[in-house]
Amino acid sequence: MHGNSLPQLGKNPIREVIAELAVDEKVCLVTGLGMEMPGLPPSFQAPVVGTSESARVPGAAGSTYAVPRLGIPSMVLADGPAGVRISPQRKNDSNSSYYCTAFPIATLLASSWDIKLVEQVGRAMGLEAKEYGVDILLAPALNIHRIPLGGRNFEYYSEDPLVSGKMAAAMVKGVQSQGVGASVKHYVANNHEWNRNTINVVADQRAMREIYLRGFEIAVKEGKPWTVMSSYNKLNGTYTSERNDLLSEILRDQWGFAGFVMTDWFGGRNAVAQLVAGNDLLMPGTARQQEILLEALKDEKLDESVLDKVIENILGTLQKCPVFSGYQYSDNPDLKGNAHIARTAAAEGMVLLQNHHGALPLAGKIRLGVFGNSSYEMVTGGTGSGDVNKAYSVSLLQGLDEAGFSIHGELEKSYPGYISAETAKLPPRQPFTVPARIPERSLPDDEINQIALDTDVALITLGRNSGEFADREITGDFDLSQAERQLLVSVADAYHRAGKKVVVILNIGGVVETASWRDQVDAILLAWQPGQESGYAIVDVLSGNVNPSGKLATTFAISVDDYPSAQNFPGVVLEEAEPNDFTAVLAAKAAEVVYEDSIWVGYRAFNTRKVETAFPFGHGLSYTRFSYGDLRLSSGEFIDELTASVTVTNTGKVAGREVVQLYISAPPGTLVKPASELRAFGKTRLLRPQESQTLSFVITTVDLASFDPVDTMWIADVGEYTIEIGASSIDIRKTEHFQKTEASRIPV
Ligand code: GLC
Repeated sequence: MHGNSLPQLGKNPIREVIAELAVDEKVCLVTGLGMEMPGLPPSFQAPVVGTSESARVPGAAGSTYAVPRLGIPSMVLADGPAGVRISPQRKNDSNSSYYCTAFPIATLLASSWDIKLVEQVGRAMGLEAKEYGVDILLAPALNIHRIPLGGRNFEYYSEDPLVSGKMAAAMVKGVQSQGVGASVKHYVANNHEWNRNTINVVADQRAMREIYLRGFEIAVKEGKPWTVMSSYNKLNGTYTSERNDLLSEILRDQWGFAGFVMTDWFGGRNAVAQLVAGNDLLMPGTARQQEILLEALKDEKLDESVLDKVIENILGTLQKCPVFSGYQYSDNPDLKGNAHIARTAAAEGMVLLQNHHGALPLAGKIRLGVFGNSSYEMVTGGTGSGDVNKAYSVSLLQGLDEAGFSIHGELEKSYPGYISAETAKLPPRQPFTVPARIPERSLPDDEINQIALDTDVALITLGRNSGEFADREITGDFDLSQAERQLLVSVADAYHRAGKKVVVILNIGGVVETASWRDQVDAILLAWQPGQESGYAIVDVLSGNVNPSGKLATTFAISVDDYPSAQNFPGVVLEEAEPNDFTAVLAAKAAEVVYEDSIWVGYRAFNTRKVETAFPFGHGLSYTRFSYGDLRLSSGEFIDELTASVTVTNTGKVAGREVVQLYISAPPGTLVKPASELRAFGKTRLLRPQESQTLSFVITTVDLASFDPVDTMWIADVGEYTIEIGASSIDIRKTEHFQKTEASRIPV
């Protein structure tokens, strides 16, 4: 027992510990220790009550209040989905640095369709977090890619809830296997950045359950995250952080979540309503919130028992954290080992979109004409809280050079100079903005023609950046800029006239337009934003050291207008003012967006309505070929579950891995359904030529069901169902049918 024989967390029942807390300590425990951020209005300044340990890990996003006399330490919470984000240098500590590994972005990880790989990345991130003294890693983020213009899509996985949920669950398991907590975010329907702190998302119940909540349901049930982060936005008129149905009924009562819920930073508005609804911790914590809670207690507008309940949730999780066990972290994680994991993961998630005339892999150590600003300055990840303070990043040039390729000297010399000259012209970057991009360099045709004669293959890298606080543009962002188009045309003309090939590398965080130019080039490698090891990973794939096995987890449509959500994006400004202090900081306005597209998101819309796409959901090529054996079902009649098995054989000349996708088409029933929906997927091991592997998938009733908002039930109708095994959502290799003779109704 502690010297003064007070109850101690972990030794005495939590309720006894809570009973010892003074009211103002309780209020401090449910609000974080604040965030030092220039420009915050006075009401947002960090609370001054109690000891602030935010300095324990400088640069971490936030920390919680400590009560040493009761054995309650302060937890440290740090971002983010691509790696740990903390300050790389510290005041009065010139001998050490605190860099972290910048892993590939979440969208790339999802494109690997490799659950085990994502769990391995999670383990690496969790280890780094632990060794730097972080207790909760604010990841994974799994909001649905509703529209490619969403500024934070790079932090998210997919347009499909099954892929999103499975990836998030794998990340949670990986991180938490290291004894560090994860935070599944942003719960829910924070699908773009425009007026995110105030916007009201209007969405129907079926869309919520089948599309926007479904991934979180999978992540919570299968990953068992220690924490969940509610989102900024309102849902159907109420802030998500103030909704009892989301935070208590669905999350806890229906899905069994047993950790604590935190707000997003300065998220929501009514602190009392947030605690009552089941949002346990208000981050980063402000003095204003503490005043409001103390007043509410005094005026009996908030019962102290509510505080006790949310503190129980917080302390229950805190006891699992490294700080509680007094873990002596080293501040010296295995960055070298994690760099290797980052490089491997990056190559696994790259997608070979097109490869005409066997342009890839590059044959031997040939001479390359390397074009495109981003070849010389890679975009390794997105900006905002999803960024990582990394020690270095490997450019494509460095990767090519170290792999023994010879690069045209003129280009290698002149691009860096152009980039630094143009960068110097950019206006200073304002807080809460995405870095501006310099114009794509234009080169005279005669220079390009000469380079084409002096080299064997052209590489052109097109880069895009995006980040928190802003959505993407259409002109020059989703669509190519005029300078980019001109570069593609000039290089393609010159190289094709010389009988040589052109390879485009897409170094992007979200979908771009490809249909209008892809036939001008031979190969397109979608590298996404591959993290700090970008150059090595891209060259691993270009050279054939790694056979690309990624598949699209998000559709590349022909036009941004083809996305059903485009009709309502980004929403409308509402007249009435929104008295939310933080909106003053971000000049956010009251706004509303109606998710009129309902469940028709991504391939569900494109494939059902037969809308042609540039590259469909699930698409991805390989340097080898795979054949699919017969699809075998455990039964022709579905009772409670059914197993589908298929054998995949590498019929090509090089080893490779195949992603097998299982889609189900349901019979006509009470609800209109998409033509088919992804219900399972798997990835083979590396198969040598002529080697086979059988993958089996267990289909359960919920995989056949749709959500009936009238009865608040999942329903699976009787009739004939079709299983489609595809190498993409439209490249269906095998089909089988089964009957369901009894309707099922599954309560939520
Ligand atoms: C940010 C983000 C959230 C992040 C948090 C802490 O505004 O929305 O993803 O974890 O604040 O940085």
